[in-house]
Amino acid sequence: MKFFVDTADIDEIRDLADTGLVDGVTTNPSLVAKTGRDFIEVVEEICKVVDGPVSAEVAATDCDTMIEEGRKLSKIADNIAVKVPLTRDGLKACRTLSQGGTMVNVTLCFSPNQAILAAKAGAKFVSPFIGRLDDIATDGMGLIEDIVDIYANYPDFTTEVLVASVRHPMHVVEAAKMGAHVATIPPAVMTAMFNHPLTDKGLAAFLADWEKTGQSIL
Ligand code: E4P
Repeated sequence: MKFFVDTADIDEIRDLADTGLVDGVTTNPSLVAKTGRDFIEVVEEICKVVDGPVSAEVAATDCDTMIEEGRKLSKIADNIAVKVPLTRDGLKACRTLSQGGTMVNVTLCFSPNQAILAAKAGAKFVSPFIGRLDDIATDGMGLIEDIVDIYANYPDFTTEVLVASVRHPMHVVEAAKMGAHVATIPPAVMTAMFNHPLTDKGLAAFLADWEKTGQSIL
């Protein structure tokens, strides 16, 4: 399973990339706005820190302008994945950009039907937003299960399921159990994944006992 970090904050990305566990980054217009920084500049910086796919989202809603914006974004670095919304125009743009060799991440997916369309449009990634479904009392993880099952029926579907709108570590566990290819994880959630009180307690006891031996390894 691949881990992407869901942020446009370069410091958070650097901090987590340092663990060697980050396979990519997803940004969106809201995350970029939060940084207060220039979009192109921040994406350029992220691409230098992380080798894997870095999603950068178009701002247009019509197909031709999305393609134009997508082509500009894809020139920033080889690891750019152009993000387009799951609309008719977005999927048309996805097809054209994908055929031209650009990685496309189709975002704002909320149904199995939409995920099937994204695969048929040649998307590299489809991003189902599970947290936002949970927010409206709809089963976000159920959507992941459906998409993973459907894609498994069609070996010619090469689109990877990128679990998005992750809110807590159990979302990641559930997604992994279902065999989703990627989870894009907010930094706070990824940090929480490292932690367990019994690890802290066990380590404290081992260190105390080791000290009693008076030995040192180095
Ligand atoms: C994915 O690419 C999106 O940036 C993200 O996961 C959205 O999550 P949110 O619902 O927490 O805004």
